[in-house]
Amino acid sequence: MSMTIDRTTTATQERVGASLSVRDLRIHYGNVEAVKGISFDILPGEFLTLLGPSGCGKSTTLRCIAGLEPASAGTITIDDTVVAGPGKHVQPEKRGINMVFQSYAVWPHMTVEKNVGYGLKGLQKDEIKTRVDEVLDLIGLGKFAKRYGTELSGGQQQRVALARAIVTRPKVLLFDEPLSNLDAGLREQMRFEILALQRAVGITAVYVTHDQTEAMSMSDRVVLLNDGLVEQSDAPREIYSRPRTEFAANFVGHANILPGRLDGARERLTVPGIATPVLAAETAANDVHESASAVFRAESLLAGSAAESAENVWPAKVERVSYLGRHLDVLYSVGDSKVRGELPSATPIVVGDTVTIGIRASDVHFVPHTEA
Ligand SMILES: Nc1ncnc2c1ncn2[C@@H]1O[C@H](COP(=O)(O)OP(=O)(O)OP(=O)(O)O)[C@@H](O)[C@H]1O
Ligand SMILES: [Mg+2]
Repeated sequence: MSMTIDRTTTATQERVGASLSVRDLRIHYGNVEAVKGISFDILPGEFLTLLGPSGCGKSTTLRCIAGLEPASAGTITIDDTVVAGPGKHVQPEKRGINMVFQSYAVWPHMTVEKNVGYGLKGLQKDEIKTRVDEVLDLIGLGKFAKRYGTELSGGQQQRVALARAIVTRPKVLLFDEPLSNLDAGLREQMRFEILALQRAVGITAVYVTHDQTEAMSMSDRVVLLNDGLVEQSDAPREIYSRPRTEFAANFVGHANILPGRLDGARERLTVPGIATPVLAAETAANDVHESASAVFRAESLLAGSAAESAENVWPAKVERVSYLGRHLDVLYSVGDSKVRGELPSATPIVVGDTVTIGIRASDVHFVPHTEA
């Protein structure tokens, strides 16, 4: 997208992010409802990530915030201005927003400085130069100002795309999987660079990815989407340690999920094939009814003597041991259930061993059970 700036506001605009509010947003493509009523709020300068599997509606939501897709229902508000709502559609270039894509769309026949300055056309020459130099320095591309697009690596092209997006001083920056064309090492480095840049300019960021590590490491808040709906919206730490649904538990890191029944007490789950009820330290939420699942992380599972003092202690048989360098990934059977755990690499354990495993009640959460 080539968004040029709204020159009436940018000359004096301060470098601070806007707040953004999405309310009951629905987006249809013909008969297909891609986004089915989602809401979230972003504070000025916050970094929010829309995370979810392919097709869950991340790009559609982002494009709608940018004004490239009309909202079928609901509202989008930037600071105090409704930009999308019933009978209202503010044009993309009037929203104070810019967007960075997976394809960098750097013009090959233009130098870096021309690429970056393109969106400033119409401003005074001196002003353009000052702004472009400033942004190139900020992003570490000062030395590359005179290079052509074709003479840049993938990472450098992505930096140019970033520079081009911030040079117009938008209040909100949108990212749609901007790193997926880069190799793993560069992707990790660019994560930190994007975050540092976002913090430095104080811009509000909405970032789209299906990569949970990216989402966890960059975001103030993660909105986890599933099939056009919000599954959970929380700080990365919360989503990881307190997933509220089976989907959230599984999408963000691997989780053990044991379905059962809450029999009487809201902190005791009877799981078929396991003799003693699974205990959790917290009571199940109100929306967790009789049919529920106990959720816990593989790295929280204890084995051997460490397991004995846990509230949940089970005899288990080792079904599979995988060496992963940093640790062993171990699959146990407990009654009719399979449970995954992690052990130090040097642990002498083999398939067929009978061991004691355990999980502390404080590491167990109950979530509603969803039929597969
Ligand atoms: N132009 C379109 N016309 C019809 N359906 C569309 C259109 N664009 C997207 N969709 C559908 O809307 C749904 C959401 O698509 P969207 O591109 O938002 O997914 P996404 O979460 O960004 O996925 P990915 O991770 O693969 O990029 C999908 O079912 C998709 O097929
Ligand atoms: Mg997408």
